[in-house]
Amino acid sequence: MQNLNKRVAVLGLGKMGGILLQAFLEKGLISRETTYGTDKYTERAEALGKEFGIRVSADNAEAARCADVILLCVKPQTVKEVVEVIRPELNPGKLIISIAASVPSSYIENLLEAEIPVVRCMPNTPCVVGCGMTGICKGRYADQGHLELAKTLFEAVGRAVIVDEKHMDAVTGLSASGPAYIYVILESLAEAGVKVGLPRDVATLLAAQTALGASKVVLETGHHPALLKDAVTTPAGCTIDGLLELEEGKLRVTLIKAVVRATQRAKELLMCE
Ligand SMILES: NC(=O)c1ccc[n+]([C@@H]2O[C@H](COP(=O)([O-])OP(=O)(O)OC[C@H]3O[C@@H](n4cnc5c(N)ncnc54)[C@H](OP(=O)(O)O)[C@@H]3O)[C@@H](O)[C@H]2O)c1
Repeated sequence: MQNLNKRVAVLGLGKMGGILLQAFLEKGLISRETTYGTDKYTERAEALGKEFGIRVSADNAEAARCADVILLCVKPQTVKEVVEVIRPELNPGKLIISIAASVPSSYIENLLEAEIPVVRCMPNTPCVVGCGMTGICKGRYADQGHLELAKTLFEAVGRAVIVDEKHMDAVTGLSASGPAYIYVILESLAEAGVKVGLPRDVATLLAAQTALGASKVVLETGHHPALLKDAVTTPAGCTIDGLLELEEGKLRVTLIKAVVRATQRAKELLMCE
């Protein structure tokens, strides 16, 4: 991939910040010499600096001063504190990309005293294997170029889709929380395999590869999942018996309720300071 020629600061090198930084470096989108990271504690920052081969400190202001693109990867409750610290280092030529769940771009804009572009992104943990899903939206002062830059970054770790900001909590409830739902489904399918006599490792492989395959078919054919399900379901065959159990166990309504509940929770996170 082509180097973006941008100086990037990743503020909050935790789980997601670390995944993204690692991927952007590996893909050659950013250079080690012009990339900065921060963590809350100096000791951990030093260790992270060695791990990633970039400059890492506990000084958010300095990192923001040295960067064109500032990736905000701290917890939602820490956003205010960090934005207030970096505020004097910002100007409209810089871009803030925030991945904080439930933090509207307007919240960050209101903390700033200038028209600084903000792009809000909601990735998920499968970014770690280059198979992430990220929802992206722009704040008031961001333009198409800023959106495209964010899309290029997040397409380096999977797929990315631009949405209206009003949908970002739904993106959080569906694709950001989604890997957890899928892991529960995979764990259950593997458990089922064990119940019907398969070794656990074989059962887990069968479950995970089946989920991957079914997902690829949906993405690559664009066919409606219901049609694809019908194609697997032969009259009086085995699958229809399995599907009937899923209906009786209310799998559909349970998954729908899980996404609705997680979306509602995403609307509340910032208020839990
Ligand atoms: N995990 C996910 O699946 C996921 C998906 C999408 C979006 N997100 C969003 O990504 C953000 C980070 O989540 P995470 O799961 O990566 O959490 P995390 O692992 O706790 O990462 C947050 C990092 O920020 C550091 N930090 C705290 N205060 C700081 C400060 N003042 N300056 C610099 N760094 C500071 C923390 O350091 P210490 O640990 O030393 O305090 C930690 O390393 C959140 O806003 C979350 O909503 C997460």
